[in-house]
Amino acid sequence: MRWWKTFGAVSLALVLVLVTAACGANSDSESGGGDGEQVTIVYARGKDDTGSTQELVKAFEKKHPNIKVKFKEMPTDTGTSHDQYVTMLSAQSSEIDVMDVDVIWPAEFAQAGYLQDLDRFILRDNIDMSQYIPGAVEAGNYNGKQWAMPKFIDAGLLYYRKDIVKEPPKTWDELIEVAKKQKGKKGTKSGFVMQAAQYEGLVCNFIEFAGAYGGRILDDKGNVVINSPGTVKGLEKMIEVVKSGAVPGNILAIKEPETHTMYKEGESVLARNWPYMFSILQNPDESKVVDQVGVAPLPKGDKASTAALGGWMMGINKYSKNKEAAWEFVKFVTGPEGQKISALYSHSPTYLPTYDDPEVQKANPLYADENFVKGVSAAIPRPVSPEYPKISEIIQVEVSNALSGKVSAKEAVKNMEQQLKEVVK
Ligand code: GLC
Repeated sequence: MRWWKTFGAVSLALVLVLVTAACGANSDSESGGGDGEQVTIVYARGKDDTGSTQELVKAFEKKHPNIKVKFKEMPTDTGTSHDQYVTMLSAQSSEIDVMDVDVIWPAEFAQAGYLQDLDRFILRDNIDMSQYIPGAVEAGNYNGKQWAMPKFIDAGLLYYRKDIVKEPPKTWDELIEVAKKQKGKKGTKSGFVMQAAQYEGLVCNFIEFAGAYGGRILDDKGNVVINSPGTVKGLEKMIEVVKSGAVPGNILAIKEPETHTMYKEGESVLARNWPYMFSILQNPDESKVVDQVGVAPLPKGDKASTAALGGWMMGINKYSKNKEAAWEFVKFVTGPEGQKISALYSHSPTYLPTYDDPEVQKANPLYADENFVKGVSAAIPRPVSPEYPKISEIIQVEVSNALSGKVSAKEAVKNMEQQLKEVVK
């Protein structure tokens, strides 16, 4: 099957930059984890609905009996989590040692001095960064330094009920048609569900619609190019989906957790979500649709099928008092053993050799398809900027206004252009 787009070249330059930066790194004071000394580190991440965190911590502690990992649960919503981290880290708190970092945060966190740069550790422990998906590595790289290690990569996917539709819809128009026609079959309440609440996930869904019709936010040089016929068309299609009558009535309040909860209950024919949902759907303890769900690329517009690039990295708090132990944990989770555990819970590995593991391929058939890696590698990143929270806020507000009918797609796109030009100079 040739669904996915072609894979970009591996960036050797990035590896060179890392090595150079590492040689010049100064050595911060650090402790913990060495020579049998007992230490406890605090690891923060958003609520984990898959159960992978517990397994990762268990396996790590078994291997490192002198390091205990205390888990601190952060909010599921990435924006709410972000704000809590900023409050903590801007006060130079050492409460947490390791944290999961959304791919959109490293530039901002690095610039603000919240993260420990990892080049020295990477070099010392011979971590071969060329073994990782380049886009995932790049997301943690800012101003020539690596601030976070890639943990898992996300790209928007289309989920479909194999027992209701034979083939997944190939275009957004087809999706609307199928969703309307099949809604109600086999006890479903909706034809399609996606994330349309006003939060970060809305930006991802918007990028996918816009991209499908050739629209982009910034060009390769960082210029604001959002005001194009492609973006307007994409947003119009998004509005059409929201108003189709085939989505849940509360679509403007739906985020990822509502999506997977509905879908595992068998309430929707089609859904847009990240790869993690697959492991929930295959868990017989909680899912009513085990083995009934297929996964495909998102539908095409008149230009392409596009997925937004998401994912999570692991960073070390600049003010951590246990940096050595923190690094051991980061190294484990982002290394071969940790990546395999994550993959068994459908968190898509960033460490490429993990995809060849037969157990991993069995857990999620997507991982056996080499085109999956090409697909996630071709996903569209959100703008990389220390000002990203402002950029996101502008998009969230305007897209929401368009979806709720306060402004037209054209007006929303024009408003975004104007405001983004103020932020991205
Ligand atoms: C997923 C993605 C993350 C994105 C978020 C939006 O967690 O991995 O990058 O920001 O969804 O809700």
